[in-house]
Amino acid sequence: MSSKRIGIVTGASSGMGRDFIFEIVRSYPDLDEIWMVARREERMRKVAKRIPMAARIFAMDLASGDYSLLEEELKKEAPEVKILINSSGFGRYGLFLEDDRKSQTDMVRVNCEALTAITHMVLPYMKSHGRIINMASSAAFLPQPKFTVYAATKAYVLSFTRALKTELADRNLKITAVCPGPVATEFFGNAEGSSKLWYKEMIMAKSKKVVKLAFKDCSKNKDLSVYGWSIRGFYVISKIFPHSLLLKIVGKLNSKDQV
Ligand SMILES: NC(=O)c1ccc[n+]([C@@H]2O[C@H](COP(=O)([O-])OP(=O)(O)OC[C@H]3O[C@@H](n4cnc5c(N)ncnc54)[C@H](OP(=O)(O)O)[C@@H]3O)[C@@H](O)[C@H]2O)c1
Repeated sequence: MSSKRIGIVTGASSGMGRDFIFEIVRSYPDLDEIWMVARREERMRKVAKRIPMAARIFAMDLASGDYSLLEEELKKEAPEVKILINSSGFGRYGLFLEDDRKSQTDMVRVNCEALTAITHMVLPYMKSHGRIINMASSAAFLPQPKFTVYAATKAYVLSFTRALKTELADRNLKITAVCPGPVATEFFGNAEGSSKLWYKEMIMAKSKKVVKLAFKDCSKNKDLSVYGWSIRGFYVISKIFPHSLLLKIVGKLNSKDQV
């Protein structure tokens, strides 16, 4: 009997992860199942009801360091994973020392450790033409005071994704890091409470558009997907100008929490 063909999406309960599910359903109508990972089970059930594809729900806290639920199922089913989307993640805005230590270190666990562990456990189940999309961020391009740990975790995701792509070049996989600027999802509610940075509000992108471009860029096997002219401009600036200078500017912008 041939193995099931599946897609796996972390961060499936909201935002871009949820939009990736709809995109997978459109682009991979022949998949047998889609596996969804996040904490909010009820949210994932709602998403599952909206798609014409069998879904499995893995209610997991990725900050716990325990991925056994997913790992055991992979071992049991030995599916062919056609696509993996690592979208789970969160950011905490504010001064590093003013936040509690667990929140800051959980960011590293969810954004970096879980993404690394899940990629490591899924890769043996991928064949040629399999795809991996990792959600990094434009925060990966430059350190960001008051988004200190978050930006560092996303720099990790970008570096990890690019190096892995090169390492695995002969496996004929498509691997892309997605680096959007601000996107209208629940992310900012979680990251900044009631305060929002005015310049982020100005360039806020729609989740569906970012996801569509990410899918397209991955199908072209691009290592990087950057949505919007302003963020592409920021990428170029971060490559040209000294980071010591840019950090001063970002530090000033982030010092004014205003709508
Ligand atoms: N929105 C932006 O401006 C923006 C910009 C650049 C990059 N990104 C990145 O894009 C990705 C998706 O974010 P989004 O904008 O779609 O935000 P979102 O709507 O808040 O979605 C985040 C997802 O991550 C999951 N998640 C968070 N903590 C988790 C944990 N401990 N265990 C398991 N799952 C967890 C959430 O599910 P549960 O809460 O149900 O667990 C949710 O499904 C993230 O990696 C984010 O860093 C976002």
